[in-house]
Formats: sequence, C-alpha cells, structure tokens
Amino acid sequence: MTSNSRSYSLKKTGAAFAPTRGERAAPAPGPGQVLLSVGAASLNYRDLLVLQDTQNNREGLIPLSDCAGTVEAVGAGVTRWKAGDRVSPNFFPDWHGGAFTMSYHQARVLGGGQTDGVLSDTIVVDAASLVEVAAHLSLAEAAALPCAGLTAWQALFERGRLQASETVLVQGTGGVAMFGLQLAHAQGARVIVTSSSDAKLERARAMGAWQTINYRTQPDWDKAALDYTGGRGVDHILELGGPDTCDRSIAAIAPAGRIAQIGVLTGFDMQPNIRPLMFKNASINGILVGSVEHFERLNRFVEEHRIHPVIDRQFAFDEAPAAYQYLKEAGHFGKVVIDFS
Ligand SMILES: NC(=O)c1ccc[n+]([C@@H]2O[C@H](COP(=O)([O-])OP(=O)(O)OC[C@H]3O[C@@H](n4cnc5c(N)ncnc54)[C@H](OP(=O)(O)O)[C@@H]3O)[C@@H](O)[C@H]2O)c1
Repeated sequence: MTSNSRSYSLKKTGAAFAPTRGERAAPAPGPGQVLLSVGAASLNYRDLLVLQDTQNNREGLIPLSDCAGTVEAVGAGVTRWKAGDRVSPNFFPDWHGGAFTMSYHQARVLGGGQTDGVLSDTIVVDAASLVEVAAHLSLAEAAALPCAGLTAWQALFERGRLQASETVLVQGTGGVAMFGLQLAHAQGARVIVTSSSDAKLERARAMGAWQTINYRTQPDWDKAALDYTGGRGVDHILELGGPDTCDRSIAAIAPAGRIAQIGVLTGFDMQPNIRPLMFKNASINGILVGSVEHFERLNRFVEEHRIHPVIDRQFAFDEAPAAYQYLKEAGHFGKVVIDFS
C-alpha cells in the first residue's frame, strides 16, 4: 500500500476554482468502508460547472465523481469486497435503491458537495456504494460509466422502459448522448443523433445511429425528427441542451413519449411551453444520475451486450488540468478519461 497519494484539490483562482496538484497521506478505511486504488477517472460537463460555482465553498475538495479502481483494503464489517476486486463507486453514495430522496443530494455527492471525489491515487469509499466492474472492460472504460452512462440508463431503461420497437433522440455527441446511442442501439431501438459537426455525425452513424441531424445547419431539428418518424415523433428524447432545446424536444416527442430532462448545456433557465404534452399524453421525467441498483443493472446490460464505452481521449494523471480544458473546448466525442497508471 502506498503511504502517500498523488491527488488534486480545488483552489480558488480568480473567479473560479482550479484543480491543483498535491499529495496527501493515504487514507485508512473505517468500518463499512473500502480503500480503493483508483485506476482511471472520467470527466463530465458537471465537473466544469463545479469549477465555476464559487457560491459554494469547495476549497480543498478533491474533484470528480467518476472512477474505477481496485480494492486495496477493507474496513471492519465489509464482507462483500476483498483486495484485488475491480469496482466503481456510485455517484450518489447513499442512494442504494428505491425512490430518490433529497437527503442523497449535494453534501454526499462525490466531488461536488462537501464530499471528496476521486481525483486521487487512493480514496476511501462506502462499501455499499460500490459495483463490480464488468469483466470485459478496462478500468479506463469502466471509469466512463458512473455519471454519464448511468444517467442515460436511468432515463431510457429504468424510467423509460425502452422497447426495441421504439425511437430515441440524443442531443450532441458528448458522454451522456453517446451512452444513450450505445445502450439504445443494443436494445434494438432506432436512434437519431444531433450534432454541430458532420464529422461527429459520421462517427455516430458508424456506431449504429439510424438518422443524424446537424443542429447548426438545421436548427429546426425537431422538424427533421418528425419527418424521419413519419410525422409521429420520437418516443424517447434525452434532453441535454436546456433552454435552447426544450421547446423543440416537446415539439418532437411522440404521443405517449418520454422526454428525459437531464442537461443544462445552454443554461439553467428553462421555460418551456408544456401545453403540447397534454395533447400528446407525453411526459417529462426529471433524471438525476441513478442508484446503486440502477448502476448494477447497467453494468449487467453492458456486460451482456459487450458494450465498450466510447473514449475520445485519455490524459495522464499529471495532465488533469489539460483534460478539463479539452472537455471545455467540446471537441470531444464520447468521454474524456484520466488514466492514473
Ligand atoms: N441530470 C443528470 O443526472 C446529468 C448527468 C450527466 C450529465 N448531465 C448534463 O447533461 C449535459 C451533457 O453532459 P455530458 O457530460 O454528456 O456533456 P459533454 O460530454 O461535455 O457533451 C458536450 C456536447 O454536447 C453537445 N451540445 C452542446 N450544446 C448543444 C446544443 N445546443 N444542442 C445539442 N447538443 C449540444 C455538443 O455536441 P456536438 O459537439 O456533437 O455538437 C458538445 O460536444 C450537461 O448539461 C450535463 O450537466 C446531467
């Protein structure tokens, strides 16, 4: 076991936080906890928002929520895991299953509230928050799943009950969207992908996208989606844009369809006209990542269908600030990963 851990913590620099490299003593697992040697972590759009949110004091907090690693040691009372097991902690450590409650929110969310995240060689996590990494995945691939993969999973499968006969639309080609494409395609559904880039749309088609729409050259992508579905609309939409996209999602949703309200890529202030939902008997489901049980079912599906998460680029541990910058520039397709090896 290493005595010192490489780690990053947030330091206020000007008008934002910055991930700052340091070292800390390797933590020891308490009762019910596990000491994890982190193999890889991945970034989400949310991690950019955390840097900008200076209203909450996160000075000294270890950032990032998503990782996969190997168990080094277990604390008293932990029987489910042993040294050497490959595991991944859930985004919400306390949401094991059942309905969501607000107590799972904020303070105990990894790398965002007041709870340290995963951008450190060794971390201590609750044993009950862990899921086993699917056997066919590398740790870098598994690190892509916890937030983006689980959000797409909860939206489409847990809440959406996606059927093979149905259609799905995902917005853009970032982490959540590409998991939406992979999971829905594996289920046999037909997936429409929107993007600002024709080159990215070509890659999405190679992954099995049924139809693609460039939302820059075709801003009324809702009309194109209606055309592709014979005027009926799309059964499931992963709504990632927010204010600039929510009305078009409502226009493009099919009768009895489900919009998964997930993202804030164009801001937080959504004011959609929801009247059309009534006439279509359609719904909007608010989606916030998922529970440990959801995460376990996602991993089973990923293993059964031999899905490999799409990693755009991997950065070394020392390059973590460059990984943040790369995500911010939004040229990526799928996930951005930090490999600790
Ligand atoms: N509710 C939850 O639990 C939850 C969980 C995860 C993520 N999220 C939210 O979901 C969103 C996506 O997260 P992520 O981590 O997947 O982001 P990401 O990987 O950073 O994805 C960014 C991509 O989104 C696309 N995009 C940007 N503006 C767009 C627009 N107006 N219309 C359509 N696509 C647009 C772009 O794709 P192209 O380059 O192809 O145009 C961009 O590359 C974020 O707002 C994030 O906060 C929420």
